[in-house]
Amino acid sequence: MCGIIGVTGARDACARLVAGLELLEYRGYDSAGVAVCDRVSGDLFRARVAEHGGSVERLSGRVADAPEDPGAAIGHTRWATHGRPTEENAHPHLDCTGRIALVHNGIIENHRELAAGLDGRGHKRTSQTDSEVLVHLVEESAAAGASLTESVRRCLSVVRGDFAIAVVSAAEPEVIVAARRTSPLIVGVAASVGIVASDVAAALATTRELYALGEDEVATVRPGTVEVAALDGSRVSPRRVEVSWSVQRALKGGYPDFMSKEIHEQPQAVRDTLLGRVDASGRTEIEELAIPDEELASVERVQLLACGSSYHAALAARQAVERWARLPAEADVASEFRHRSAVVGPRTLAVAVSQSGETVDSLHAMREASRAGARVVALTNVVDSVMAREADGIMYTRAGPEIGVASTKSHLAQLALLDLLALHLGRVRGAISGEELAEAAGALLSLHEAVETAVGRGDAYRAVAERFAHVEDVYFLGRRSGLPVAYEGALKLKELAYVRAEAYPAGEMKHGPISLVEPGVLVVVVATRTTLWEKVMANVEEMRARGATVLAVADDGDEETERLVDAVLPVPHVAEACSAVVNVVPLQFLAYTVARARGNDVDRPRNLAKVVTVE
Ligand code: F6R
Repeated sequence: MCGIIGVTGARDACARLVAGLELLEYRGYDSAGVAVCDRVSGDLFRARVAEHGGSVERLSGRVADAPEDPGAAIGHTRWATHGRPTEENAHPHLDCTGRIALVHNGIIENHRELAAGLDGRGHKRTSQTDSEVLVHLVEESAAAGASLTESVRRCLSVVRGDFAIAVVSAAEPEVIVAARRTSPLIVGVAASVGIVASDVAAALATTRELYALGEDEVATVRPGTVEVAALDGSRVSPRRVEVSWSVQRALKGGYPDFMSKEIHEQPQAVRDTLLGRVDASGRTEIEELAIPDEELASVERVQLLACGSSYHAALAARQAVERWARLPAEADVASEFRHRSAVVGPRTLAVAVSQSGETVDSLHAMREASRAGARVVALTNVVDSVMAREADGIMYTRAGPEIGVASTKSHLAQLALLDLLALHLGRVRGAISGEELAEAAGALLSLHEAVETAVGRGDAYRAVAERFAHVEDVYFLGRRSGLPVAYEGALKLKELAYVRAEAYPAGEMKHGPISLVEPGVLVVVVATRTTLWEKVMANVEEMRARGATVLAVADDGDEETERLVDAVLPVPHVAEACSAVVNVVPLQFLAYTVARARGNDVDRPRNLAKVVTVE
């Protein structure tokens, strides 16, 4: 999940690297580094810093010593997998001569075997990373007279695992060689500049002429030109990336942090995601889906695959598919799905849900479903992401770039789009009446207004949340539509505030966990008015009887709920079927407030990375 940037042909290459790394920091922020070819001396400059959350900032001071006439330059921001987050493990890694530098994102599965061979041949490795073997392998071919591009190709032919790499050599000071397998990488050109980046946001300030590298493709990037070839050396025409985002959308725009900005962008994310895809009569259209209605109508099962917050959206979607499409549906954690004997066949529609479109667990689960014969749809926020490219059909959320590590606007957009998919399936299968369809469409179309109202109450939610800033032990409870919301609320509190929080179906507490409830425990319950409200409140009584403090997400003006709990987070009432989209908003503010009160960095919580490209 590390971030990669490379620039060649620019006098201000170092400034561009640092600016790119700042935008990529959300992918990992344990350490950062750059390597720059010096066109005058023919040497290679390297600087690395390992400081949690502050690496790129400190690195920007260190590049003051970089060559004044830079050639090819590469940078990296790391999320540690193999080897602790120290300076010696930070990228770029150098070969034994100090004249070749390499940055890597991914995992080299056979690194131990490769390292043993390299050690036996006299190489001196200086890090505990899996990545370093790559630069020594490149060194061996280069020493035998191969070009940098050929050396990289030979190196990759013996490597097992996932990678995106960028390599520079003092011997070819204007060239960056970039390659990928599974982990994403794009290359681009502008006038006399060439660029490499692990995502579009980091490249946009330089150019919009960007190309996505395919599996096992190797690019040779020079000032103003890019050549792409397969591992066997045969030329490949690179595929242009359509860029609809502006650089500004990836900046904080006056908010104290990306999370606040992204929470406030939620109404727009929901509105944009549904725009033109459903009308008030219930006519649905999902343009990139590319699976004909007749085929969708013959689907017998829906299998949702995802991780983290995306999995919570999938849990909500399972209910929507059952309700509107009357199809059996399952939601699986992607990392588990591929290792169980799931029964998936040609009449299964597998929907892989992923903000980044790169989460390796989700990608592998999607491939597994496809191998088993399912039709596979990627529901993602990133255009041209790896999952989007491999799936049979695509559904894009239109949330714009999400930089804060914790999902917010992308999660709401996923919920809305999955509701739309369930409606669409219901319509093409004839499983839903015209009246129900129009009613559901109406609810979806006004959803962004309810989200806007909820987001507009941020200060009020924060004031309530501050009363609970000291909590250490929290249960999040919900039933039916409230359960995925409870899961998401607990995840947000855990990942941002570092508070132990567990989510449970409210009715399940009495089967065990209730023995942990005592004074001092906070119970957060989704208690909006559904047909299950009375049952939820009976569960609340059970918690209160054991001394728990209860905070409820409740409908506006619901005085009865207010009387039965200790505090409420009021939300505008919407149809239960799409209520998760609104009800999760106050829980985002809860986590944000508790995290800030504890001095945590909400955009870059400890141990996490935005894009998880390891299994
Ligand atoms: C939590 C969060 C993660 C992601 C998960 C999947 O706030 O952001 O749990 O939801 O890592 O990521 P994507 O959706 O990119 O596959």
